[in-house]
Amino acid sequence: MAEFNTIDDFDVENKTVLVRVDINSPVDPSSGLILDDTRLKLHAQTIKELSVKGAKVVLLAHQSRPGKNDFTTLSQHAEALSDILNLRVKYIDSLFSNSAKEAIQSLKPHEILLLENARFFSEESLSRTPEEQSKTLLVRNLSPFVDYFVNDAFAAAHRSQASLVGFTVDTPSAAGRVMEKELTVIQSALDDVEHPCVFLLGGMKPDDSIDVMENVLSNGTADSILTTGIVGNIVLWASGADIGEVNREFITNKGYADMVEKSKDLIERFGDKVKYPIDVACEIDGERVDIDVGEIPNEAIFDIGVNTIAMYANEIRDAKYIFANGPAGVFEDPKFAMGTEDLINAMANSEGFTLIGGGHIAAATAGLGLEDQMGHLSSGGGACISMLAGKKLAAVEALKNSKK
Ligand code: 3PG
Repeated sequence: MAEFNTIDDFDVENKTVLVRVDINSPVDPSSGLILDDTRLKLHAQTIKELSVKGAKVVLLAHQSRPGKNDFTTLSQHAEALSDILNLRVKYIDSLFSNSAKEAIQSLKPHEILLLENARFFSEESLSRTPEEQSKTLLVRNLSPFVDYFVNDAFAAAHRSQASLVGFTVDTPSAAGRVMEKELTVIQSALDDVEHPCVFLLGGMKPDDSIDVMENVLSNGTADSILTTGIVGNIVLWASGADIGEVNREFITNKGYADMVEKSKDLIERFGDKVKYPIDVACEIDGERVDIDVGEIPNEAIFDIGVNTIAMYANEIRDAKYIFANGPAGVFEDPKFAMGTEDLINAMANSEGFTLIGGGHIAAATAGLGLEDQMGHLSSGGGACISMLAGKKLAAVEALKNSKK
């Protein structure tokens, strides 16, 4: 018997189905426009299927985190989803106010409504047990209007937030199609890891990555970790390199200073299995300049350097299993796309099994037209690496418990 329900287990016709999707997307800070609609397209399958089956579909999602410049409303997500689905997706700029409840109650079968960014509600950012989350205002207010809860948000499944786990306690719950597929494909990749196994860890969320490094090195899953992005800068700093005041400040201001200590410990314990950049790219007089790590000026690091790219590409070529999470640099700027793009190309040309996880690196892969060259392109960054590190995903555990 399957460990959790899927959409196939419920007759959704004429029922109100609350669907947690993860349409958290890169947004251009200057125009405020969505830069990549990969996740919106992914969830279209689940949404359409429910709508075709006659459900009244209520979508719940988040965009970014409080304090970030892409922490926006979901109004343009609704428009983009309408275009992708070729069906009208209504939007209400509220989560559980009376007007949101009225909008839910007035839905007819096949109709779709997107609620506001769940993280506008401060309780959402707290990580707690499903039982605790079931008592939040969000869950208490919406549950009476919902027949089924479907969690399709694989990319956020490692978070134990109210919108992800709270409804599973009292509302019959199931995994959506994206959740089902991701769990199946990643689990089968995990059951079959071949060595050498390389983890390429970059991006802007080092908290997830540093934990994963420790796990996959300790349990022998990874033979080598190639660090890039902010993760690379943190490990580089931990190695004793002078990364420049501006980069140290950036790391400290983001609250990641303790990761430097953790990285020092990892370097001590695992030696050269933990790789970090030997050169970096900065912007000087408007141009990209590649600089050896012994000579980094007080300038922001925007990419790994050409020698690091070559060193990492060699490891990728010889690996039998490569997992990549997060871009190597600010790939949205063509001057600093080289690290991200060359390493994606190296993966595409590798004979090993390749798994790409995370919205930004998935977008870069799609931008290069290389999706079909990868073993699996996961919509989840943190969720995917947590799974590869052998951790349980809070939202998946909640779905399993809900079935029991
Ligand atoms: C992601 O993009 O990884 C998911 O949407 C989760 O976002 P979070 O790391 O802000 O919780």
